[in-house]
Amino acid sequence: MTTKQLYDLGDIPPLGEVPEKMHAFVVRQDRFGEPTKSWQREVIDTPKIGPKDVLVYVMATGINYNNVWAGLGFPVDVIKDRQKKGEPEDFHAGGSDASGIVWAVGEDVDDVKIGEEVVVHSGWWEPEDPWVLSGKDPMLATSVRIWGYQTNYGSYCQFARAQSHQIKKKPAHLTWEEAGCYMLCASTAYRQLMGWAPHTVEKGDVVLVWGAAGGLGALALQIVSALGGKAVAVISDEDKRQFCLDKGAVGVINRKDFDHWGPMPDTASPEYKAWMGGVRSFGKAIWEAVGERKNPKIVFEHPGESTLPTSGFVCETGGMVVICAGTTGYNITMDLRYHWMMQKRLQGSHLANDVQAEAVNELVLAGKVDPCLSGTFSFDEIGHAHQLMHDNKHPYGNMACLVNATEKGKGAS
Ligand SMILES: NC(=O)c1ccc[n+]([C@@H]2O[C@H](COP(=O)([O-])OP(=O)(O)OC[C@H]3O[C@@H](n4cnc5c(N)ncnc54)[C@H](OP(=O)(O)O)[C@@H]3O)[C@@H](O)[C@H]2O)c1
Repeated sequence: MTTKQLYDLGDIPPLGEVPEKMHAFVVRQDRFGEPTKSWQREVIDTPKIGPKDVLVYVMATGINYNNVWAGLGFPVDVIKDRQKKGEPEDFHAGGSDASGIVWAVGEDVDDVKIGEEVVVHSGWWEPEDPWVLSGKDPMLATSVRIWGYQTNYGSYCQFARAQSHQIKKKPAHLTWEEAGCYMLCASTAYRQLMGWAPHTVEKGDVVLVWGAAGGLGALALQIVSALGGKAVAVISDEDKRQFCLDKGAVGVINRKDFDHWGPMPDTASPEYKAWMGGVRSFGKAIWEAVGERKNPKIVFEHPGESTLPTSGFVCETGGMVVICAGTTGYNITMDLRYHWMMQKRLQGSHLANDVQAEAVNELVLAGKVDPCLSGTFSFDEIGHAHQLMHDNKHPYGNMACLVNATEKGKGAS
């Protein structure tokens, strides 16, 4: 029997048959720039898998900001970076969130079977990394990378190459596009909320969630609620209020009702008093949202520069501000007097390890966390979906693009 060299999207090869070539969305260095220019459809070789790898026939992919950066070639040229490490490819076939079917497994893989319906967690590390082998948190290993951003052959490929530990069970009640859009944000949010003991969500704890209607925030609201906490959502647009309440927020604050944002003024300057007035009234808005004078034990941060001075102040004595990005800028300011006297913690957090990805997937499998799919696009709209994100015009929640699933709404049983 002869194997076809290339299959159209959705023209399903016999299970386990791997064609030589595949369709993929790819960035090349000579077209670095805005997403609709940098991300182009190409036919490339299907990647070979190593002994601990898995090849996934991708049905749908999520869209994340990391591949806006990959297309810009900024702040890191991921192609050059990998070539320096010895990888030959002169392109980036990205994508960090996938749902699909296991199509091939490496010779050392015994925990994943061909034909299984799965989602992919984007934590990638060298299997032989001594840090990982010693049982320590792999997200702190020197070899850690974000799959489909810092590695090639991610979810914008007809066949994606992943390590077997990245493979998690696809929730049967979700369509391909719902299943393909949540894991990166859900696992990141879960690590922020449950990965930094003793600052983990416990029954009745107040958690302040910035950007609550965003991809990350919407998942954080639901995780807090599923764990018995009280999430207070922050938004900038009244249209998002009901969405946050529906996702489990006990109260919602519109940050447009305040104007003290941005870096903190000098503590000796006349502006400081007015700034502190703004911060204190924001703190009161949290109490009103919670229904009692209770400060957040955890502040779920990613805006950074614009909001961190407020986060540091409103956080409970002995509480934690946990941050995974600098959406509004990287130069943070903070009134240190409140930080040390009230013994607060400022914790950086990045993606998640396997245990955390598995734990949040259990919440999705149990129907306690919804992926918050905001919009579904076609494979050919992968550049467009990134462009919406680049221009901050994307719908709130998490976007997906179909890959081998050529029709929306399929894949749920
Ligand atoms: N390190 C990691 O592992 C990791 C993983 C996932 C995401 N991230 C990063 O986390 C960030 C959020 O991701 P996302 O998927 O949630 O993005 P998103 O869907 O675009 O949401 C971003 C949210 O930020 C809020 N925001 C924008 N400007 C703000 C400002 N000046 N002050 C306060 N809030 C502001 C917006 O909410 P309002 O305007 O309604 O307030 C918006 O909902 C991104 O920077 C992303 O790259 C990091």
